Amino acid sequence: MKLSTEPYKGVRDFYPHDKQIQTYIFNMWREVVEQYGYVEYDASVLEPRELYEAKSGEDIVNHETYSFTDRGNRNVTLRPEMTPTVARMIAQRQREIVFPARWYSIPNLFRYERPQRGRLREHWQLNVDLFGDESLTADKEIISIGFNILTRFGVNPEQFEIRINDRRIVQSAFAELGLDEETSYALQKLIDKKDKISDFAEKAEALLGKPFEYNPEPNQEIVEIIKQLKKDGISNVYYDPTLMRGFDYYTGIVFEFFDKHPDNNRSLFGGGRYDNLLDIFESKRISAVGFGAGDVGIQHVLETYKLIPHLQRSTIGICALTIDDIPKTESLATEMRKNGCNVAINTSLKKPSTLLNWSEKSDNRFTLFIGETERMNSVITIRENIKKKSITLPESELISWLKKA
Ligand code: HAM
Repeated sequence: MKLSTEPYKGVRDFYPHDKQIQTYIFNMWREVVEQYGYVEYDASVLEPRELYEAKSGEDIVNHETYSFTDRGNRNVTLRPEMTPTVARMIAQRQREIVFPARWYSIPNLFRYERPQRGRLREHWQLNVDLFGDESLTADKEIISIGFNILTRFGVNPEQFEIRINDRRIVQSAFAELGLDEETSYALQKLIDKKDKISDFAEKAEALLGKPFEYNPEPNQEIVEIIKQLKKDGISNVYYDPTLMRGFDYYTGIVFEFFDKHPDNNRSLFGGGRYDNLLDIFESKRISAVGFGAGDVGIQHVLETYKLIPHLQRSTIGICALTIDDIPKTESLATEMRKNGCNVAINTSLKKPSTLLNWSEKSDNRFTLFIGETERMNSVITIRENIKKKSITLPESELISWLKKA
């Protein structure tokens, strides 16, 4: 039996064009967060399982992780999220790190989910986290970065909305209902899933023993942050007391960004404040706020609104027409590379139309042919693949022409 060429369920292969789109997304993420002074970190995909048992939440640990026992009997998990890892790293070097610390990363994460539009088993996620600043300004910065990322991609603020809540509102509303810790936790998880289940009201009533009424007013922090964001020109922020977020470590504001288009009904970004997560380590208290934004969702948004630009490579394809042209093709390519050009050679000696097809399909920006005329007269013909236009130059002017182009 021959093997299947399909990738493993729920993960993607990135053919060169797919990778080019992903790189475009990553570059935009980097550009925006670095403008706010965030520095990049990274870590291994492997973590001890206990890291997630502490405060991520039982759903993710028991149902969504890829976990295994290694040959030394250790429980290992492929990271399903980056927050526990970054908290571990900050806690480990807490004495050397100067605060406020602004860190970002673009890790691949693994979750054993039912693959569906917008949810896969491996995705890449921009993580932007600010440590050691408890102020509302920090919360505001984190939300503003998310807003700026979307608008820099060309998404119109009318096309998305930011829903915001505060875990403290939820806690005090549940306390007013007189719920014990266990029921509160179960209710929070139920509300988190309300859009995915059809019998939410019945389930809530069964849990509480009475119909569930829940309409808490926003607290001072929520009112203030919405007001301040509006002042900065960010007015698509809405208070939503049913926004829970799945992870147990959040302690203050929580938020999610949603595309309003019905095809993309899952959150694009999600985050919040988690001031106690570092307590799971031997650490002083370090406050933190941040978010994660996945590559799958953002790509769907860019496709939906036709916002992916034509991504051209800078490569120059240089083709020899006869066997006598190969040395010149190679030496010219070397010279061009020394001058900073990206050059791919083709010495297959196929017919010119085939060579041109190779150069165009490889997404090369220019095609150069080296034949007898070029060799004898020291001239070069450059074809711009997209415009399908050619120009002939003295060879001595080639490099300066390319530099200008
Ligand atoms: P999260 O809400 O689980 O948060 O994920 C954040 C974003 O990652 C989601 O809004 C979505 O875009 C994307 N995402 C999550 N799971 C998948 C999946 N299976 N397939 C495709 N995309 C996915 C967290 O992970 C928090 N640790 C974020 C955070 C950072 N909070 C504070 N700092």
